[in-house]
Amino acid sequence: MKKIQISPSILSADFSQLGNEIKRLEEGGADMIHVDVMDGHFVPNLTIGPPVIKRLRNCTKLPFDVHLMISPVHKYIEDFSKAGADIITIHPEATDNLNESINLIRKLNKKIGVSLNPDTKLSVIENILDQIDLVLIMSVYPGFGGQKFMPEVIEKIKNLKKIKEEKKLNFDIEVDGGINFKNSKIVIEAGANILVSGTTIFKENNGNVKKNIDSLKLV
Ligand code: DX5
Ligand code: ZN
Repeated sequence: MKKIQISPSILSADFSQLGNEIKRLEEGGADMIHVDVMDGHFVPNLTIGPPVIKRLRNCTKLPFDVHLMISPVHKYIEDFSKAGADIITIHPEATDNLNESINLIRKLNKKIGVSLNPDTKLSVIENILDQIDLVLIMSVYPGFGGQKFMPEVIEKIKNLKKIKEEKKLNFDIEVDGGINFKNSKIVIEAGANILVSGTTIFKENNGNVKKNIDSLKLV
């Protein structure tokens, strides 16, 4: 079994202190930094883009796990690569040609992630699983932090894990949305090896990010 990794979402960080917040996450044992990019069109909210990511790149050595919730995504992939993304995750609905977008991320030498909304079926990516590094299962409808975890995605995580084992593949299974101390265990048992979390990491235990990261990892 892969080691459990935590990818804190800076969506719940203090945006006036992003550099320091990322340092705090690194000191607290984060494995990577989850950056939620929203365009007010693919999802009903706006966040940050490549210039901010580029400035933050100097604040940490941790990988940047960049979750693109923008459409059309294809023409921006290179900008996020140049800004310092290490994992580039896209939604199939946000590109006209998923294969082309995947090939572009590969050409840029970045890890390839594909994200599935709660109502997007595994069948959409089943025949490309051998080409990607990570599947991001959304456990809320993307757009906002602080939403309630949707337990119905547990079955999808289990099915994905089963396919992964049957096909002897090695991609990561990352889960994003509403992860807390109560549901992290069941999400990990279902097959996730990377947990994204914003609210729990920044708000629980008076914002003690180290304690919250450790608790999510069940250590
Ligand atoms: C939702 C984002 C998530 C989310 C995580 O659109 O992709 O990364 O902000 O935050 P919490 O942990 O608050 O659900
Ligand atoms: Zn996200």
